[in-house]
Amino acid sequence: MGTGKGYGKTILFGEHFVVYGLPAIASALTNSTLAAVKVVKGKGWVVDDQRSATPGYKTQKYDEAMQSIENVLRHLNIDMENQKLEIFFGGDLFAASGVGASAAQCTSLARALNETFNLNLNDEKINEAAYEGERAYHGTPSGIDNTASTYGGLIWFVKNTSGGKNTMDLLKSSKKIPLVIGNTGLTASTTEVVAGVKKLKEEHPNRFNTIFKEYEIIAKEAKTALLSGDIAKIGNLMNQNHELLKKITVSGKINDKIVGIALKNGAIGAKMTGTGRGGLVIALAENEELQEKIAKAIEKEGFDAWRTMIG
Ligand code: MEV
Repeated sequence: MGTGKGYGKTILFGEHFVVYGLPAIASALTNSTLAAVKVVKGKGWVVDDQRSATPGYKTQKYDEAMQSIENVLRHLNIDMENQKLEIFFGGDLFAASGVGASAAQCTSLARALNETFNLNLNDEKINEAAYEGERAYHGTPSGIDNTASTYGGLIWFVKNTSGGKNTMDLLKSSKKIPLVIGNTGLTASTTEVVAGVKKLKEEHPNRFNTIFKEYEIIAKEAKTALLSGDIAKIGNLMNQNHELLKKITVSGKINDKIVGIALKNGAIGAKMTGTGRGGLVIALAENEELQEKIAKAIEKEGFDAWRTMIG
């Protein structure tokens, strides 16, 4: 038997823009999905998915999850004719849209297979296998989720849109910053939302050009602000990023509602994170006292809220 883990992530800047080769910044969460693989007699594979999840998440993502497991197994050339694999998923990462749950599942599986079959894969190869799994969720993932899930930490990521190697720099923030993650409770299809943005971009190329230019400045300034621990600036840039995400129509009513609650209760900045149209919202707090206040205010309105640290 072998085990492996994959971190969850939160995108601080640049979801959707990252698909088009613009830079994005993500932070891995300390929470992770744990996979275990047991080889038994028979053929094929079975899954026991014990992850805690937003109601409906696992059913809605079931087909994609099964395909992603198949993709990882095939990519790693695992023999499924002369043996049967019992695959277990658990861990303390709550499975919800926006937290990198699918990437964490793929990464943990690649690591567990690596250990089970002594494949000697380094992180780069684990990341490649996890990317193949991610492709089941939408044909053209940027690769940011599996990269954050594999390497952990705070990352600056640029997709190579010509198909070559992506850029990934580990950033060292000068301080840990409290973050609240609010859950809309809604599961979105990344495939549909990413396809919707593509269509809109094709219909309005000039408008998108302007938005992309504005976003690029935000991303570069955010990198500098994160490195120097300038919380006020990071928060302000998060607010700006959220406005651009609204313009490309990927935020949703409940996302905006949670952003509003967070800002009203002292958040320095707040935005949707990940796919959008549901999923999660992140809010930056100056200290743990304010973090608690923001989280409690979100919970009071009936949403789940988690407290974490980035940097
Ligand atoms: C999903 O977590 C992030 C998106 O930008 C898609 C991707 O990067 O592949 C929406």
